Amino acid sequence: MRLPLTTLLGASLATAQLTPITTFGTNKSGARMFLYEPKNLPANPAIVVGIHYCTGTAQKYYNSNPGLHQLADQKKFLVIYPESPNDGGCWDVSSRATLKRDGGADSNSIAEMVRWTLEKYEANKSRVFIVGESSGGMMASILAAAYPDLFSAVINYSGVAAGCFFTDSVAGWNSTCAQGKIEATPEWWAKWVLDAYPGYNGTRPRIQLYHGDVDATITPANYNYSVAQWTTVLGYGGKPTSEKADTPEKGYTTQVFGALLTGVYAKGVGHGVPVHAEEDMKFFGL
Ligand SMILES: *[C@@H]1O[C@H](CO)[C@@H](O)[C@H](O)[C@H]1NC(C)=O
Ligand SMILES: *[C@@H]1O[C@H](CO)[C@@H](O)[C@H](O)[C@H]1NC(C)=O
Ligand SMILES: *[C@@H]1O[C@H](CO)[C@@H](O)[C@H](O)[C@H]1NC(C)=O
Ligand SMILES: *[C@@H]1O[C@H](CO)[C@@H](O)[C@H](O)[C@H]1NC(C)=O
Ligand SMILES: *[C@@H]1O[C@H](CO)[C@@H](O)[C@H](O)[C@H]1NC(C)=O
Ligand SMILES: *[C@@H]1O[C@H](CO)[C@@H](O)[C@H](O)[C@H]1NC(C)=O
Repeated sequence: MRLPLTTLLGASLATAQLTPITTFGTNKSGARMFLYEPKNLPANPAIVVGIHYCTGTAQKYYNSNPGLHQLADQKKFLVIYPESPNDGGCWDVSSRATLKRDGGADSNSIAEMVRWTLEKYEANKSRVFIVGESSGGMMASILAAAYPDLFSAVINYSGVAAGCFFTDSVAGWNSTCAQGKIEATPEWWAKWVLDAYPGYNGTRPRIQLYHGDVDATITPANYNYSVAQWTTVLGYGGKPTSEKADTPEKGYTTQVFGALLTGVYAKGVGHGVPVHAEEDMKFFGL
């Protein structure tokens, strides 16, 4: 049975605001969970996980990407806003544990948040999506790799390929990756995804990558790393099968690599490609 949040947590927690959830799982990494529940939520709602950038918090990301909760009000889906437990507010996208399914790190805590929400709300398991920005985009990659069965579609803005930020420490900064100086084969990139959940042979989520071609923080080579990673995992050729200029807006080129992988390369855009919330909803099918 689906219990409304007000029943679970007390009547003072009205809907349509960020509600902290303190009982979502073992939460070994100590990440925090906030939930946004629109008014008049239908049965079997969809879930979008919105993952913040470095220095972000759940509330800051809620404020900086208002399109997400406004669209949640219109389209009636739940939004989970995880919050990083790490100094500096970056996600752990660099430890061995976070790069593994159920490894007890941040990626694991976010998966627990999703499982908790699916159960408590009897949400639709076929409609669980992620959008992440920067450090949150990197986390989105890792979640797509380690929990392909949990997510239907993943969008990341200005992130990196799963494993690219590996430093063997929690929430480290891999400058070789950031600067686009990793020389590796497509198979090496793919291995990070395959090793995150060994033996997985089910459906993988649809992925959409956004990257700016003048990103000085996470240089544009990272777009190519991600393309190499996922085209290999998905068994696509490394080149786009179709390409549309000025889509979804002037200067952005949309490249389709196969049914599950789309890239949007934005000319003249730096780090943190502006969020295209309406486009995101189309990609999610919401
Ligand atoms: C997350 O985990 C930490 C430590 O494991 C715990 O103290 C905390 O209450 C948990 N937070 C939430 C929001 O569940
Ligand atoms: C769950 O989502 C799938 C995929 O969008 C849809 O076909 C199905 O009707 C949904 N189920 C419910 C019970 O809403
Ligand atoms: C974005 O995320 C996907 C998977 O979610 C990941 O494989 C990819 O490397 C990331 N890439 C970019 C450029 O954001
Ligand atoms: C960054 O990642 C690359 C590739 O995994 C690795 O060779 C390098 O040692 C990493 N850098 C740091 C600082 O850990
Ligand atoms: C897919 O994985 C499942 C679970 O590990 C296994 O039972 C099944 O045999 C695998 N199927 C194929 C085609 O490898
Ligand atoms: C990415 O790949 C494309 C197509 O192969 C190539 O033209 C481009 O120079 C590469 N970009 C970077 C930054 O390496």
